[in-house]
Amino acid sequence: MIKPDAVENGYIGAILDKITAAGFRIVAMKYTQLSTRDAEIFYAIHKERPFFGELVEFMTRGPIVAAILEKDNAVDDFRALIGATNPEEAAEGTIRKLYAASIGENAVHGSDSDENAAIEGAFHFSGRETY
Ligand code: RTP
Ligand code: MG
Repeated sequence: MIKPDAVENGYIGAILDKITAAGFRIVAMKYTQLSTRDAEIFYAIHKERPFFGELVEFMTRGPIVAAILEKDNAVDDFRALIGATNPEEAAEGTIRKLYAASIGENAVHGSDSDENAAIEGAFHFSGRETY
């Protein structure tokens, strides 16, 4: 996902350019907005964390871009491309270093395993929306 902060700041095009330049193929993509219930389900793994309320508030405050991306070693390579959760710790040239402002509002989401990538892809897209 391209998160609400990056959409608000006009970074959709720049972020998609970095993603395609890095060799990811777009399998599915949409411009949409998460409801509170959507965000609570998507980030359910973090529901006991102190930042959960803030995270749900942030992720629902405006539209996002959701996508399924394909590449060899996609999970690790995408997380390398986006950089550390905290943009202050993210490597130079990474998407979060370039386009994120804080650990909470950090421009992009990347799946953390192939298994979660499949779950998260199915959360956003039906089979006939994937190509
Ligand atoms: P993501 O799931 O969004 O790709 O991020 P991530 O794996 O790098 O980080 P994760 O630990 O899964 O945290 C999910 C999102 O919660 C917000 N967060 N806020 N205020 C805080 O201390 C804090 N910590 C995490 C961020 O939006 C983070 O990406
Ligand atoms: Mg995560």
